[in-house]
Amino acid sequence: MVIKSAEFICSNTKTDKLPNPTLPEYAFIGRSNVGKSSLINALTQRKHLAKTSQTPGKTQLINHFLINGDWYLVDLPGYGYAKTSRTNRAEWGKFIKKYLFTRENLQCVFVLVDSRLTPQKIDLDFCCLLGEKGIPFQLIFTKADKLSRVKSEHNIGLFCQSLMQWFEETPPYYLTSAETRLGCDEILTLINEVNLK
Ligand code: GTP
Ligand code: MG
Repeated sequence: MVIKSAEFICSNTKTDKLPNPTLPEYAFIGRSNVGKSSLINALTQRKHLAKTSQTPGKTQLINHFLINGDWYLVDLPGYGYAKTSRTNRAEWGKFIKKYLFTRENLQCVFVLVDSRLTPQKIDLDFCCLLGEKGIPFQLIFTKADKLSRVKSEHNIGLFCQSLMQWFEETPPYYLTSAETRLGCDEILTLINEVNLK
């Protein structure tokens, strides 16, 4: 898919202020600093569309980006940000869950996982939560440029194996890098296919 236009539409903490749910949308979730905003920029080939930072906790709101005038990419705040207060974390949980559980035009949630790490409980728990709620998701393993293919495939294997404790089959996954755009065209192809259905 060619990205002809990508524009920032709005940032929200309240689900009742989101754009009308008339267009298909795809949300990016995962631990703080896993690379959600960077991947959105890589997908759209716009360096500064979504705000990125070396410091975790950069994205704090639900950000909608309108792509080619007919579908949305949604950048979400990360989970597991250690420095935030317990109240903030509870608030995060509430509004993100409300968004994920009620957004009627949400086609797929992409759960981003750092490919450098062995399976982390927080990511597995999040996948289980989506599974319990029947929310379709796919996995994106990030920062592939930072380690060898063999190591990333090893970590992906361990992650999928862990998921098999709860799921009959593991969801599709992508290995990506926001630096090299590895995996970006495959993700756009998937989105295109879903949009055409
Ligand atoms: P929050 O908004 O805080 O939840 O973080 P995020 O998941 O949006 O992460 P962000 O895209 O801001 O990236 C965090 C850091 O990781 C930044 O310093 C990015 O440059 C770096 N980063 C993200 N993706 C990649 C990647 O694929 N490769 C490399 N080498 N660095 C990456
Ligand atoms: Mg971000």
